[in-house]
Amino acid sequence: MRPAATARSLSAHAVARVLREGVTLDAALKNALVGAESKLTPSVRSLSYGAVRGYFRHEAILGKLLSTPVRSLDFLVRAILSVALYELEDERSPQYAVVDAAVQTAKATDAGRASGLINAVLRRYLRERKSVDAEIASRPAPRHAAPIWMADRFRADWPVRWTQLLAASDAQAPMWLRVNRRLATTSEYVAQLRAAGIEAREEPRVPYAIVLDAPRDVHELPGFAQGVVSVQDLGAQCVAFPLALAPGQRVLDACAAPGGKTALMAEREPNLAKLTAVDIDPHRLSKVRENLNRAQLDAEVLAADAAAPGAWWQGEPFDRILLDAPCSGLGVIRRHPDIRLRKSPSDIDKLPALQGKLLRATWELLKVGGRLVYVTCTLTRSENRNVIAAFLDEHREASLVPVEAWEGWPGFGEDDGFGRQILPGEAGADGFYYAALTKT
Ligand SMILES: C[S@@+](CC[C@H](N)C(=O)[O-])C[C@H]1O[C@@H](n2cnc3c(N)ncnc32)[C@H](O)[C@@H]1O
Repeated sequence: MRPAATARSLSAHAVARVLREGVTLDAALKNALVGAESKLTPSVRSLSYGAVRGYFRHEAILGKLLSTPVRSLDFLVRAILSVALYELEDERSPQYAVVDAAVQTAKATDAGRASGLINAVLRRYLRERKSVDAEIASRPAPRHAAPIWMADRFRADWPVRWTQLLAASDAQAPMWLRVNRRLATTSEYVAQLRAAGIEAREEPRVPYAIVLDAPRDVHELPGFAQGVVSVQDLGAQCVAFPLALAPGQRVLDACAAPGGKTALMAEREPNLAKLTAVDIDPHRLSKVRENLNRAQLDAEVLAADAAAPGAWWQGEPFDRILLDAPCSGLGVIRRHPDIRLRKSPSDIDKLPALQGKLLRATWELLKVGGRLVYVTCTLTRSENRNVIAAFLDEHREASLVPVEAWEGWPGFGEDDGFGRQILPGEAGADGFYYAALTKT
């Protein structure tokens, strides 16, 4: 009979699945925690997130200590080592207890044959830690746990600020809330939070945004179940400005799931003629319905391909289209550290073609004089500026809506000649790209 699962073995299995299968860490954790004692959940989550967040630094450390390539090790062995290295960095458990626990985890799982190697490599790390850590700290990519391809892309697109961007992607993200101004003002809600013992502050440049001093479980937030607030990054909340919503408009959210921006639009302008939320992934669409229902908001929700509107579009054009396109997500890595493990350069290189296709297809649904807002949560020029530039080259009837016409825009981001790039960490936001187009 196998020994009972520990937080370490459950974490190692979750991390190994991310490495092996490219699933999200949240999906791997959900699976790993089925049948586990609920008291283990917080430690499993924090060990797994810590290991994934530091994974590429851990690989670099192991590369200095092993005589064989790290990638030749089994996924589970790498995951056990990464969990242990995270615990050593975290310094909450005594060093030798961490090493022993890693060895025991290996013995209790399919990694038993590697228990000697795990013991040897971790003990060697403890002996040589000072020099190994100093060498790792001298190189920006491993220091900030970034894969080399990511560091190379940041450097190519942001030659002056690439190390700053690696550091920002390695930082902990703050928890931002969007207050439904129909139900409370931000100052009222900050007061409600304070009464509940939760410290927060308003962001005056985005008049419905609040940031918490420390992340909280959403169920601790007053009025969360009634839709008074939603969790949404500050960068994502900026979508309302370039859209310039107004009563009576027909609005399409073309890539809507999980519905954060759909709900924001419904909250910001309650008198739209129609709000249609489309997503190709029916699983993720159930989240859109959940988000709308919680806040008692309404929209038509369609599982459909936005790039093939012939199958679902009724022929009446939209005044506003939000295209929050699928992207590499390199602006939100601090929130989703598993992106670094799950994406590859070849995946990213396929995205501009998909983004261009979605842009061309949804453009056909826009009214003359209407506005299409293109959004990504990434930093690569190929998915942002270049997509818009190529589109404008092909579409003489399309022109840019300048940022001066994005009513209320909080001044975030920098102009790249086409749109605004918010870099991760600016004003505490994730990295987002916005461009607005109009049809003549
Ligand atoms: C960046 S996410 C959207 C996030 C969402 N707008 C929000 O704020 O919560 C991109 C979405 O595009 C969807 N998607 C990808 N290809 C699509 C397509 N061809 N048609 C419609 N949706 C698509 C994905 O399923 C994913 O949910």
